[in-house]
Parts: sequence; structure tokens; C-alpha cells
Amino acid sequence: MTDAEIIDGNAVAGEIRDGLSGAIETLADAGARPGLATVLMGDDPASQTYVNMKQRDCEEVGIDGTHVDVDGDAPAEELYETLEELNADSDVHGYLVQNPVPDHIDYREVIRRIDPAKDVDGFHPENVGRLVAGDARFRPCTPHGVQKLLEAYDIETEGADVTIVGRSQIVGKPLANLLLQKADDGNATVTVCHSRTEELAAKTRNADIVVAAVGVPELVDGSMLAPGTVVIDVGVNRVEADTEKGYELVGDVDFESAREVASAITPVPGGVGPMTRAMLLYNTVRAASEQTGVDVALP
Ligand code: GUN
Repeated sequence: MTDAEIIDGNAVAGEIRDGLSGAIETLADAGARPGLATVLMGDDPASQTYVNMKQRDCEEVGIDGTHVDVDGDAPAEELYETLEELNADSDVHGYLVQNPVPDHIDYREVIRRIDPAKDVDGFHPENVGRLVAGDARFRPCTPHGVQKLLEAYDIETEGADVTIVGRSQIVGKPLANLLLQKADDGNATVTVCHSRTEELAAKTRNADIVVAAVGVPELVDGSMLAPGTVVIDVGVNRVEADTEKGYELVGDVDFESAREVASAITPVPGGVGPMTRAMLLYNTVRAASEQTGVDVALP
């Protein structure tokens, strides 16, 4: 078997960002500039990197980015006040609270306090419910990014057996719901595996498409895949390595053995990650369009 095609997330994310430029121009012509706020409580270094990247993305595409830092030791009420201000600010069309939050903060309660119309992560129970009901407003960024990658590479989900490894609120559960919906980018037969799944390899070997989103470095390897499988690696794991930073990033898939068996595979980095960032911009433009009443064409 020849090596798998490498699915280029940077290229597809670039196309989505280009497509958003038209929508942002339409909004600008109507006097509206989309606004995204990021909120970070505490000083987790990985989270700081993520919010910095999100802010840089905003700047590059013409979204008004603002960032709010909340002291990691502050009481929950201080964070809630920030959320109330953002809910009331008509210049902020979407915002997110970067996870993880400090231990004394209940993230579920935080999510419930975000105006669902501004919940560009798509985590609010109203948005989760709408997604499950087949009437999604904001699709969570990573699952939506995975769908866009499959579409860009003409990988059919209709009738496909998809095995998702991981049942998180952010990726596994919403992606499973999206892929089983009666829709052109759905209509798949979905199996969701998790830490208590027995015979994991039997489930992955049975799949046309395997999505690894479990947070275990290199859990899925080539021996667990049938020839010709499409492999989507959502994992971003920092593992110790002899590099300048002392670590390297690896996915949930053992890339080298998987690429020898798969027909197509996403690399880490450069696969799903850039798509997640692009779809956050997409949701922000969508939120701005809905809140300003200016119709736009989304990519
Ligand atoms: N932490 C890791 N992924 C995410 C995400 O998609 N949204 C937020 N808010 N925090 C995260």
C-alpha cells in the first residue's frame, strides 16, 4: 500500500478564511464589524497561547478581537460580572471562556451564563440541544472543522461507518450527532468509543473513517486500521522530548504506522487544529450577521 494522502488543514482553513473575507466586507459595507471576545481566568500557559492565537486570527481577517483576563484567584462572581458585561455589549457578537478554568469555578455554570446567541463555542445547553435536534445554530468549532475537512477532500460520510474514539462534550459527542444527522455532511453510521470500550481495535478496523479525539498520545496505530481508512486526528498532546521546549506535540494517532495503511490522514500539527481556529471565526461572523440583521454568504 502506498502512503496515505496528507490532509492539509492549513490549506482548507485558508480557503474558509478567504470565504469569510467576503462576508466580513458585506458586514463592513453595512457599518458592522464582527466582534469576538476571549476570556481567560488564570494564567495557564497553554491557554494563553490558544487565546493569543485566536486574537491574532481575528486581526488577520478583520474581526474586532478583545481579550479579558480574570485573576485566577478571583471569586466566581467576578467572572460572572464579566460575562454579564459581554452579554450586554452590542459590539461583542461572540465570546468564549477558555477552558480549563481554576478548580473553584464550575465551568458548566459559566457556560449557562453565556448568552446563547453569543456562544460561539456552541457549548451552551440551548445550542447543544438545538444541535442534537438537527437545528444547530453554532456548530462547535472542532467537529465543524472535521466536517469541512472531509467535505474539502470529497470524503463521503453518507453510508460510511465512522468510529469516533472519545466522547467529550467538545468533540466526540457533538461530532457523533452531526455525522448521524440526515444531511449531506451527515448520514453516517456512527460508533462512539471511550475508556470503557471493549475490543477498541475491532471497532476502528470496521470503520471507513476513524476520528481520534481521546487525548491519549498515539493510541490509534496502523494495526488498528483497515486498509484505505480515512484517519482524522484531533489529538494535541504535549509529550516530553529532547527539543528546545522540552516537549513535542503528538496526536492521538501513531502517524507513521497509520499512514502506511490509511488512504488519507491528518497530520499533527497542521490538520484539525487550524480548522478549529477557522470555524471560530466562522461562528463569530455568523453571530454578527444574526445580531445585526445583515445577511451574509458563509463559506
Ligand atoms: N479549551 C480547549 N478547547 C477549547 C475550546 O474549544 N473552547 C474553549 N473555550 N476552551 C477550550
